[in-house]
Amino acid sequence: MPTRMIVFSSRQYDVESFNEVNAQYGVELDFQESHLDAETAVLARGFETVCPFVNDCVDMATLEKLYLGGTRLVALRSAGFNHVDLPTAKRLGITVARVPAYSPHAVAEHAVGMILTLNRRFHRAVARTREGDFSLNGLLGFDLYGKTVGVIGTGVIGRVFGCIMAGFGMNVLAYDPGTPADDLLARGARYVPLDTLLAESDVVSLHCPLLPATYHLIDERALGKMKRGAMLINTGRGGLVESNALIGALKSGQLGHLGLDVYEEEGGLFFEDHSNRLLQDDVLARLLMFPNVIITSHQAFFTREALLEIATTTLGNVKAWKDGAPTNVVDG
Ligand code: NAI
Repeated sequence: MPTRMIVFSSRQYDVESFNEVNAQYGVELDFQESHLDAETAVLARGFETVCPFVNDCVDMATLEKLYLGGTRLVALRSAGFNHVDLPTAKRLGITVARVPAYSPHAVAEHAVGMILTLNRRFHRAVARTREGDFSLNGLLGFDLYGKTVGVIGTGVIGRVFGCIMAGFGMNVLAYDPGTPADDLLARGARYVPLDTLLAESDVVSLHCPLLPATYHLIDERALGKMKRGAMLINTGRGGLVESNALIGALKSGQLGHLGLDVYEEEGGLFFEDHSNRLLQDDVLARLLMFPNVIITSHQAFFTREALLEIATTTLGNVKAWKDGAPTNVVDG
């Protein structure tokens, strides 16, 4: 009998990528638009494998209900696993697997797109020409060539990003407590202390994970250390930046441009259409009003290549588990 897997929080693009890859695996897939939580876990009754997404809630109550319904594998279709109660999964004997890496180019290229958009005001220019306004006032940008970009976190994504920016002719500064990346060093990048990076960069881009040590890494103090009028890009995790502090820095002009793909309070908002409802998050509403701020809804990973890699690794994890040799297991 083939393995059955229920895919929570699924959208049309998940259906298409999983079905395309599943031709090789033959897993019986059931796509559900609902989020997974303790209420909706009942939908998974009879499915030995459950596939949640990043904003699903895989806490103790959910896991206990999944266990009673026969689930024995939680196959995350994400790298992050902060939304899973791992000790409870272990106690129940439920295996948790994840997708440790998928197209770093997708995220790095999205960060570059945000830089170009903010600098050359594409978002404003396109809206203007659609209205028949062909004036240039307010659209003045600057050459990236010869300027300095600071990369915070030079793992898989940060080093791809740094190499692209070096290709623009930018000076690359890097900060990472781990081992320096050879490919960045080969392109002339300099590893410097965090405060030096903040003080000398025209553009700062965040590519480190959200950990207790990196929570609110960019707060009022850090924003104050940045060059006046510099640009900040966050495609990492919302919690890396203290959202409230951004508003003051933008109002005073200390922060010149801001690009966010992630937001501290994105759960329940991002990935959904809220256009017919009143936005209740006052900080997000204020940020959206600045002309020098652009926000995308956790979209950086969203390329065809990345979706296919996510589906391939997830279905591979299911097959490996079924064959008795689980892969990409999260132990906690
Ligand atoms: P990675 O694990 O390869 O690299 C992370 C790097 O951050 C490592 O080199 C590590 O030493 C460094 N780091 C750890 N603590 C640090 C600190 N205090 N300051 C500076 N650097 C520090 O991870 P990868 O694949 O490059 O992903 C980075 C982050 O990007 C992920 O943790 C995730 O939060 C985010 N991401 C966002 C996506 C999106 O769609 N917006 C998609 C995928 C990942």
